[in-house]
Amino acid sequence: MAALCFPDQASCGTNPAQVHGGGSGPLQIMLGATTMTASNLRVLVIGSGAREHALGTKLATSERVAEVIVAPGNGGTRRELGWAPLANADDPTAVAALARELEVDLVIFGPEAPLVRGAADAVRNAGILAFGPGAAGARLEGSKAFFKEFAVRHGLPTAPFRVFTEAGEAHRYIEERGGPLVVKADGLCAGKGVVVAATPDEAHEAVAQMMERRFFGEAGSTVVIEDVLEGAEASVHVITDGRGYLVLPPVQDHKRLLDGDRGPNTGGMGAYGPASLLDERGMARVVQRVVEPTLLGLHREGIPYRGVLFFGLMVTPGGDPMILEINARFGDPETGVLVALLDEDLAELLHQAASGSLERVGEARVHGHAAAVVLASEGYPFSPRKGQAIVGLEEASEVELTYVLHAGTEEQAGALVTAGGRVLCVTSQGDTLKEAVVRAYEACARIRFAGMQFRRDIGYRALGGAGVGVAPRQGLS
Ligand code: AMP
Ligand code: GLY
Repeated sequence: MAALCFPDQASCGTNPAQVHGGGSGPLQIMLGATTMTASNLRVLVIGSGAREHALGTKLATSERVAEVIVAPGNGGTRRELGWAPLANADDPTAVAALARELEVDLVIFGPEAPLVRGAADAVRNAGILAFGPGAAGARLEGSKAFFKEFAVRHGLPTAPFRVFTEAGEAHRYIEERGGPLVVKADGLCAGKGVVVAATPDEAHEAVAQMMERRFFGEAGSTVVIEDVLEGAEASVHVITDGRGYLVLPPVQDHKRLLDGDRGPNTGGMGAYGPASLLDERGMARVVQRVVEPTLLGLHREGIPYRGVLFFGLMVTPGGDPMILEINARFGDPETGVLVALLDEDLAELLHQAASGSLERVGEARVHGHAAAVVLASEGYPFSPRKGQAIVGLEEASEVELTYVLHAGTEEQAGALVTAGGRVLCVTSQGDTLKEAVVRAYEACARIRFAGMQFRRDIGYRALGGAGVGVAPRQGLS
């Protein structure tokens, strides 16, 4: 057992071993520290997507956990786990009040919005453990300009950029710079505030939408304009208490709506892992150039961080990891895959991170492969059609090593209906990626709702072809 010990910390153990430096002298590992264990935990998970269903399901398997409550939850979590109503999950006061009322020991945050607004601070102020950074740490996700400037301060690899608060200057920069550029609204925009502009005209239009016409309200009053990076994307998650950290295996998300990575960007249409794109050497680079310098940077800036750092990376053709974004939460649909891969007690890990006793440094124990296929509503991602009856869930769950995670579902008169854009996230395990993908598609073929759409090529890059997806049965009868 070990934990990161920062260079300016006086109280390092007597038997330090060195790991990769983070830019200003070596980090050290403290050996022989004690690990906090807990039992009989009452855990509250905040959120209502497949990510929260995945976390809740895994937490409930822990011997340390007495009860998992998901608030506000969805049709699936409400059937399988505890739940509590929560009218506004983004409201720090409401979340802290609920945690107190339910007398939980630990609150785990799914989405970013409550974190950015300080809900983890509110829970901690109420004397309850929280897994998720306070508002200061969540700014890494909540403000793209803050992240980019943080990256520069700490030597993190990221695309060259400029920050603008004035539209005229942004337009002039686009003219000067020329070529393709990425325009990003500074604040949270529910995943819609990034435009990869192939031409200066598209970049001008993005600036006009964000800064002049205020499509995203205040979130667009500041924009980041950065160079386009080439490569393949990977999601790397790190559970940390700000000192100790555990790196989870790399996962690849499929963000575009249609097969072959075509069509509009979505919140994610499927994922698989471990993504072969980052092999052992690649992950060592990620740890050395991305993970440790980020933790060191947070420490230097006096920002406590107990939660997950989710690095959205572009891996260049030369194998170098560049950071596109840092999120303060687990990815969705990545979490279904991560939970399926993880061969650890998640409750113990998250409790240790939340309580500042994660006395480990390195990679989490994992097994096998996993794939997740998102079943989405007709009209997603623009105007999803809701209220459609869902059938075949039990038959789908009978597929070996398969979990049907719910996202936009709700119960109406005892039946499950669609209630959002991403409806279900069918996740399977396998000894090989192909086995996992085949199982997931077998389960997808057993599920139906009117207008259901999904990608049939999840994992195709790693499988070296067009994927192994099967066609669903059509219609509802
Ligand atoms: P972000 O929210 O910053 O991760 O951006 C959303 C998506 O836009 C990413 O997942 C990438 O597909 C794309 N993107 C963002 N920044 C860049 C960049 N500098 N170069 C190429 N693609 C990018
Ligand atoms: N799947 C990408 C995200 O959660 O942001």
